[in-house]
Amino acid sequence: MKQEFHTKNRYPADLPMTPLVPIQLSADEPVIWCKLEFLNPSGSTKDRIARYILGNAFDRGHLKPGSTVIEASSGSTSIAMALVCAQLGLRFIAVLPEGVSNERVLMIRAYGGDIHFTPKESGIVGSIRESERLAAEMGGFLPRQFSNPENAEAHELGTAREIVEQIPGHLVNAVVSGVGTGGTLVGLMRGCGSARHAQRAFLARPVDLAAKREQECCSFSCRIPGVMECISGLFRESDYLDLTTIEVSDQDAIETTRELIRLGFPVGPSSGLNYHAALIAAQSVWPAKVVTVFPDRMERYFSTELFRPFLGEHGTASPRCAEFQTDRAAQAKDQHVPNDR
Ligand SMILES: Cc1ncc(COP(=O)(O)O)c(C=O)c1O
Repeated sequence: MKQEFHTKNRYPADLPMTPLVPIQLSADEPVIWCKLEFLNPSGSTKDRIARYILGNAFDRGHLKPGSTVIEASSGSTSIAMALVCAQLGLRFIAVLPEGVSNERVLMIRAYGGDIHFTPKESGIVGSIRESERLAAEMGGFLPRQFSNPENAEAHELGTAREIVEQIPGHLVNAVVSGVGTGGTLVGLMRGCGSARHAQRAFLARPVDLAAKREQECCSFSCRIPGVMECISGLFRESDYLDLTTIEVSDQDAIETTRELIRLGFPVGPSSGLNYHAALIAAQSVWPAKVVTVFPDRMERYFSTELFRPFLGEHGTASPRCAEFQTDRAAQAKDQHVPNDR
């Protein structure tokens, strides 16, 4: 089975290493080492877990061409799974809460994936339950990114190993990451440490999310999609006594993201969150080497808060585009629009 997964006509056959680059926003700020995960084939770090989890499932005989994969996610994992499934001839169903950005939905559909929406009010937890129900009904394979230890393993053996290989002196003094499933942070904590020196770990948490955690967790009220640690089965803050939490306001995260984009790093909001937290972390460990990740690309956020300042006075990027949308909206009214749910 291993042979079958690895010899399929996929591009790229193996994930190339993503660059690790030192970024300094201004002369009086510290340098942060950033892993450019948005350069992965589907545009996010989730390519690593999609390939690792589905590859292992092939090796174990749980998947074969034509099988169905069903995953609940806020979008990035579904996009990565949809890409890998397209390359391997698997059927993919993404279970997403209503309200995820249009861009994410369109990417999944473009890769041939089907979407099953769950009510916005029940958040990602509702999507997870629905994915389990669908899998039981249809006999589909569930990657279970929120609880599958292979998620963190993919980052430990991939992301973290690359970082240690790439960083000068092969020593990482501190790692910083937001948490969604927790796979990235747990993988970095495990894989970037060494027997020879102590490594610090920092959790980047959007404060607006923290404030709304009880009532609105995972309902995408937060402006930093993908970061919602309260439902992770892989990461429990209380298990890591040496972990320091850094709270970052949504506003700081978004502004830092826009600054990174202006510098030529086309990233999404969780990269701004991570970078801003890394700057704060660096104050307590400087001049040590602080590493963070840029999880995904900016293009999947065109219709979100991140790009609002770039819209024209009518709320669209260009007047021609507005006309086009109006025509399309009028046509859509006269047609039956199939409901995915
Ligand atoms: C854009 C984005 N950033 C960060 C994360 C968090 O990464 P992890 O799930 O490894 O904790 C996610 C998770 O889905 C994400 O989609």
